[in-house]
Amino acid sequence: MIYEGKAITVKLLEDGIAELCFDLQGESVNKFDRVTLEDLKASVAALKDNSDVKGLVVTSAKDVFIVGADITEFGDAFKNDEETIIKWVLESNDIFNGVEDLPFPTITAINGMALGGGFEMCLATDFRVMSAKAKVGLPEVKLGLYPGFGGTVRLPRVIGGDNAIEWIAMGAENRADKALKFNAVDAVVAPEALKESAISMLKDAIAGNLDWEAKRAEKTSKLKLNPMEQMMTFETAKGFVMGQTKGQYPAPVEAIKTMQKAANFGREKALEVEAKGFAKLAKTTESQALIGLFNNDQLLKKKAKEYAKIAKPTNKAAVLGAGIMGGGIAFQSALKGTPILMKDIAEAGIELGLNEANKLLAKRVERKKMKPLAMGETLNRIRPTLTYAEFGDVDLVVEAVVENPKVKKMVLAELEDQVSENCIVTSNTSTISIDHLAEDLKRPENFLGMHFFNPVHMMPLVEVIRGAKTSDEAVATTVAYAQKMGKTPIVVNDCPGFLVNRVLFPYFGGFAGLVRDGADFRKVDKVMEKFGFPMGPAYLMDVVGIDTGKHANEVMAAGFPERMSSDFKSAMDVLYENEFYGQKNNKGFYVYETDKKGKPKKVFDESVLELFAPVVAEAKDFDAEEIIARCMIPMCIETVRCLEEGIVDTAAEADMALIMGIGFPPFRGGALRYIDTVGLDKFVELADKYKDLSPLYHVTDKMREMAAKGEKYHG
Ligand SMILES: NC(=O)c1ccc[n+]([C@@H]2O[C@H](COP(=O)([O-])OP(=O)(O)OC[C@H]3O[C@@H](n4cnc5c(N)ncnc54)[C@H](O)[C@@H]3O)[C@@H](O)[C@H]2O)c1
Repeated sequence: MIYEGKAITVKLLEDGIAELCFDLQGESVNKFDRVTLEDLKASVAALKDNSDVKGLVVTSAKDVFIVGADITEFGDAFKNDEETIIKWVLESNDIFNGVEDLPFPTITAINGMALGGGFEMCLATDFRVMSAKAKVGLPEVKLGLYPGFGGTVRLPRVIGGDNAIEWIAMGAENRADKALKFNAVDAVVAPEALKESAISMLKDAIAGNLDWEAKRAEKTSKLKLNPMEQMMTFETAKGFVMGQTKGQYPAPVEAIKTMQKAANFGREKALEVEAKGFAKLAKTTESQALIGLFNNDQLLKKKAKEYAKIAKPTNKAAVLGAGIMGGGIAFQSALKGTPILMKDIAEAGIELGLNEANKLLAKRVERKKMKPLAMGETLNRIRPTLTYAEFGDVDLVVEAVVENPKVKKMVLAELEDQVSENCIVTSNTSTISIDHLAEDLKRPENFLGMHFFNPVHMMPLVEVIRGAKTSDEAVATTVAYAQKMGKTPIVVNDCPGFLVNRVLFPYFGGFAGLVRDGADFRKVDKVMEKFGFPMGPAYLMDVVGIDTGKHANEVMAAGFPERMSSDFKSAMDVLYENEFYGQKNNKGFYVYETDKKGKPKKVFDESVLELFAPVVAEAKDFDAEEIIARCMIPMCIETVRCLEEGIVDTAAEADMALIMGIGFPPFRGGALRYIDTVGLDKFVELADKYKDLSPLYHVTDKMREMAAKGEKYHG
């Protein structure tokens, strides 16, 4: 044994070959945390002066190689100033340099995931052999960062500048065939032959048949691109990436700039450039938001695990209503392997639902994402029916009939007599209170909300709504089924609109006020899209459907009359009166034409302004700042209310729900993170400025208290 630590052991095998094995104690995966870095430092020190060692093979004892740096430790490190972060990064880099400078050839045997710092470790050795099952990549941009353990220095020198830009700026995980094609690894072998192959290659290097010193020199010297090529490569990429990220995500562009700046430097200076840029990114609000999302996601996973402990399996599901949502839910359930009955009252409805599933599956087959046989099997898992005959052994039902409380209550009552006593009954209602729907049920403990978003196969979120009488087991079973369907469930408590729609409608309210006061809805859309939403409020309203929106608005107004009932006739009301229902009948705020690919294309038609004329003030140019404030303040305050009232448990879950449910800009981290970024005191001040507009702009007392104490929503 050469070294034995808590994360790494180094031992001498035969023929002077040492094995450095990553195996972090007490964890299911390897990651670069402090302990591992310290162990690596000590391992290098022990190896360097050991004259018995002729070569080193780096391995992992886990299923993964190393999944990356320990992101939970980042948070603390990044609270320091830039100088301190730079120092920390450079000290870590000394360790990786130590690996690279060992006085004998080195090779990594990549057995599983080698991401971020894990892949940077691989790049520090001379050679890399990869299992056909492993994946490698540098996904740091997804956290608003870039590789900081030498990745931006070594990768371009190993696979070329243009390829490294693609790998680092896109942050993708790469399969073995791709890694080999790009020369990111030297060989790909079957998993069982990995270690043997690595040792055999290492022996070749020790014997002098492979020029390991030349490979090493390539990584530590300048990039092999002449000035002209450098300009072509980096300038073009910068322009392209800037366009793709709309300037909202600084990390990929900064990564390219760093590689460009460091291109003519050797290792030491190049690493300094990397460290500086890394520290700069670590201090951006974008990286803080994106790292926050990662942590939020961890929390969701942890909660789902807790629920799984008391969940009952859903082996057979059913959906009532084969419309847009019912069809989508049946498709998703079948796709992920749970057979589902799809009941409607009309033959035509069923046909529609099945056609929709068929279309989605055919697309998958066309794109080679699915084999025709699997398509057949998936379709077979959807059993259309007009009766309750086969409902006796169903574990969970999703009701997705029309959004009408009377109809829903009737359907739910009827259903309760057809299913077993243990069957969980859920409703996909978007707005109607779960407790209201539960009023006349015999088994309200088995009843709750399961709110999917449209289109079901695309939208990741499912709101699971707990009614006052819902049992823990029913919640847990629904959470587990949502997960089985490949969705991310977030559990909330009952109120009109639940969390997502309750927060969305005040935003529409802010928008309606702007239009009333003379704002151009196209400008509002542009500003909010630049803010980071996938579509602005007018366009979104068209996509949701003006009729659907108006109906939901009424439900919300009845639920929260003090804030959400409106004292003016809005542009949306006018559209509704004129039967402009949005994208579904090709006219709303915009008109919709069909493009060459058969997709709806939005076009502006001036005549809509004439319709609005009686209800809007004279045209007025609002600046972006005011537009953002007037749309965002109501949304943010309502999110705070949901947190204060316990509709949602944590700030983390509230923010995740908004990002997944309404496309809240991820780089802003959610409504509560956004308030934190603005500063709660400044936010309150701004809301007060608009307080006469509507109660939607009135902050809560607790917000004032927190602002006075300098508190934040995210710790
Ligand atoms: N469309 C959306 O964007 C969206 C998003 C989230 C939630 N929802 C909610 O999902 C539910 C369904 O909405 P949709 O857009 O799919 O509506 P839809 O009109 O497309 O479909 C409703 C279907 O229910 C059927 N139906 C009516 N009464 C029935 C009964 N007694 N038994 C069985 N089937 C019956 C109808 O024939 C129709 O096929 C609503 O509660 C809605 O609020 C809709």
